[in-house]
Amino acid sequence: MLCLCSGPSLQSNSNLPTATFSPAYAARISQPIQREFRRAPHPHAHTIYTRPQPCSLPPHQQPLLQSSFCWLLFQCLSQYQASFLCRSSTSCNCKLREIMATAVRCLLMTVAVVLAPLLAGGGVAAGGPLSTSFYSKRCPSVQGIVRAGMASAVAAERRMGASILRMFFHDCFVNGCDASILLDDTPTFTGEKNAGPNANSVRGYEVVDAIKAQVEAACNATVSCADILALAARDAVNLLGGPTWTVYLGRRDALTASQSDANANLPGPGSSLATLVSMFGGKGLSPRDMTALSGAHTVGQARCATFRDRIYTESNINATFAALRQQTCPQQAGGGGDGNLAPIDAQTPEAFDNAYYRNLMSGQGLFHSDQELFNGGSQDALVRKYGGNAGMFAADFAKAMVRMGAISPLTGAQGEVRLNCRKVN
Ligand code: HEM
Repeated sequence: MLCLCSGPSLQSNSNLPTATFSPAYAARISQPIQREFRRAPHPHAHTIYTRPQPCSLPPHQQPLLQSSFCWLLFQCLSQYQASFLCRSSTSCNCKLREIMATAVRCLLMTVAVVLAPLLAGGGVAAGGPLSTSFYSKRCPSVQGIVRAGMASAVAAERRMGASILRMFFHDCFVNGCDASILLDDTPTFTGEKNAGPNANSVRGYEVVDAIKAQVEAACNATVSCADILALAARDAVNLLGGPTWTVYLGRRDALTASQSDANANLPGPGSSLATLVSMFGGKGLSPRDMTALSGAHTVGQARCATFRDRIYTESNINATFAALRQQTCPQQAGGGGDGNLAPIDAQTPEAFDNAYYRNLMSGQGLFHSDQELFNGGSQDALVRKYGGNAGMFAADFAKAMVRMGAISPLTGAQGEVRLNCRKVN
């Protein structure tokens, strides 16, 4: 479990939101942190800690508190309590100054957390105008329903987790996370589903339909399709073994969609590093966000047509890997093999891990755009770090997903809450 509001590491880890992790990740990532804040016995009756104790609630209560403002307040109160106990003890040898300093930092942090979303003014910092508690009263069961729906979809087919994750990306990059991708074409309306990057490629619409039907049964006309997709993408990653995070909510659904915007805003597999940096930058996402988000290619499958050029014509590719992919992806376009599938991550195609980055380091990026992240350019160093540090990748991915999920949401009276994700009300 990561503790954000702790004495020495407070400032370096102060970005919200918190990322929490599956048990396997937690075990790998949190050991040094747990060691750092071990309890130390004190000669007096009341317990004092050698360092301010950041997580003194039972473990099962910590995720809830961590993901909320209350957690910060709780931290501050416990620091003040510690300093009070110190003062009232005649022979106390704890470091009063250190505890007081931590308490002050905690207070400043709390103020910063409250002010940051206000000052961000609708940008993509943290959750922007969205909120983590949007449905707490309106529809408290929504998160459980989405999780259960995704759990059964992933149990039936693990690739579906990857497909839903990609659907969220393709929604957010085209005029914001507004469920525009879910609108069906009609004789009088052309939406995004048949745009080049989506047609015969994006999948999982029925999974969203099924979850939406259950959410409607529990909370009629309350939860947007855009929020359902944001939650489903988070759960998809976690169900495949990756991190989890707190989703900011309150998006509303678009009244329209644009095929031309989908064609223009989604990067293609032949993109250069400069194009990727620029396209993500256009959405308010940094090169680091871009490289972290590309780690989604640790799961899922791709059609031969999307990587043919790379495996037949490029030189910065591992020869054994190219030969392997050529076996099921014929060189001739249009000859029937265009739709043949290959795993994007050859090592662990169904596990959300950091193998993708090690693939890049050994010339086994499947798309030209993937290999651009490790081809002597600005992202090489970060790829090496992610490849060697699963915890760093997981934490950065979670943060970048929150930022991507905050791209231009419709809120308040904008848009609507669709009853059926495929059509406007
Ligand atoms: C950096 C720019 C990106 C490019 C150029 C790109 C391109 C592609 C392409 C060409 C495919 C295969 C599509 C097909 O065969 O039909 C694909 C699959 C996939 N992409 Fe990306 N992508 C990018 C970023 C992302 C991001 C940011 C995410 C999510 C956060 C993502 C998640 C996925 C997933 C999970 C799949 C597999 C989907 C499945 O198996 O159904 N991609 N991507």
